[in-house]
Amino acid sequence: MQVTRATFDEVMVPNYNPAAIVPVKGQGSRVWDQEGKEYIDFAGGIAVNVLGHCHPDLVATLKEQGEKLWHLSNVFTNEPALRLGKKLTHATFADKVYFANSGAEANEAALKLARRYALEHFGEDKNQIIAFNQGFHGRTFFTVTVGGQSAYSDGFGPKPGAVQHVDFNNLDALKDIISDKTCAVIMEPLQGEGGVISSSQEFVEGVRALCSEHNALLIFDEVQSGVGRTGNLYAYMGLNVIPDILTTAKALGGGFPIGAMLTTSEIAASLKVGTHGSTYGGNPLACAVAEKVLDIVNTPAVLQDVKRKEQLFRDGLEKINQKFNVFSEIRGEGLLIGCALTEQYQGKARDFLVASAANNMMCLVAGANVVRFAPSLVIPDEDIAEGLARFERAIEHVVNS
Ligand SMILES: Cc1ncc(COP(=O)(O)O)c(C=O)c1O
Repeated sequence: MQVTRATFDEVMVPNYNPAAIVPVKGQGSRVWDQEGKEYIDFAGGIAVNVLGHCHPDLVATLKEQGEKLWHLSNVFTNEPALRLGKKLTHATFADKVYFANSGAEANEAALKLARRYALEHFGEDKNQIIAFNQGFHGRTFFTVTVGGQSAYSDGFGPKPGAVQHVDFNNLDALKDIISDKTCAVIMEPLQGEGGVISSSQEFVEGVRALCSEHNALLIFDEVQSGVGRTGNLYAYMGLNVIPDILTTAKALGGGFPIGAMLTTSEIAASLKVGTHGSTYGGNPLACAVAEKVLDIVNTPAVLQDVKRKEQLFRDGLEKINQKFNVFSEIRGEGLLIGCALTEQYQGKARDFLVASAANNMMCLVAGANVVRFAPSLVIPDEDIAEGLARFERAIEHVVNS
């Protein structure tokens, strides 16, 4: 059956507006479309393809598990889920893991757990959730309400209540509203969708202290910043601040859908049998692939190289900017990089993305004013150089149009 981009408009719900091409093959950091045109991938499936496309070890693991056991549901446990659970708890502050299928579901579990924990330990008045403006936590109704972008959460009727937002990196604003009625504060240690914005050390330390003072749980949403993206396995490890709950997804499966919520034994005890669940959570195929991703990423060879590759990006982007003066700031950490556009190009990030695609390079935006890169952590240096050369041609096109 012949399908094209036009088929999308024919049969798909119109909530997405995908690019004009239809990719059919990927290898490492290169992708090919139906016409055989080749692209350098700096988007990484929105910070997911942490080992590039079709990494041979991941392909082998998926094939091997695919011939053994696909699915059981949570009526039974399975070996890949148990092994991944052990490795995640061994590698982090956490004692316990809950498996989900996406970032939103991992956050949904985290928020429900925080509410239940507060109810059990402090009573029903302790239910306030504080989140940050421009934060992003997923698209279920609870998580999108907690996210700090009303454009995503408005227009669906009454929202889950007791959710408040304050400005990111503004400790005084948090101090003003946090109280003993706060059950949780949720934040991305490095905001992704909101514009690639790092949290200051003072801010995260302050948030941690305020949460402890008010017996509020600190939830780190590391769905985008986790699994090596910043050069640490999780961003909290570079901040010396330990959350009570951490969520991870995206890169965890390297392209196979999986999410997880990590926490301590004491907090986990509130998700008793039957309180929460998912048919696919802990699926053997997903867990086998994620275990292999973790084995590969959580090594000095990969993690240390993230910082070196970040420098290659920064040097290349600075050089481009000297020529065209289109970025006011190049920011982010590790291989989550944001190029904030100057005054002249405000609102035009998408033009850069479209011009990049026309020049055979895939990138992302983070809001209307930031071009974002979230490539594979093992992208070859030659592909970084070639992708940046294509980006330079794209910028030249935008500047001259
Ligand atoms: C920080 C963060 N949390 C949660 C999500 C939602 O993840 P998913 O789309 O897998 O539900 C995203 C997705 O962009 C994210 O960046």
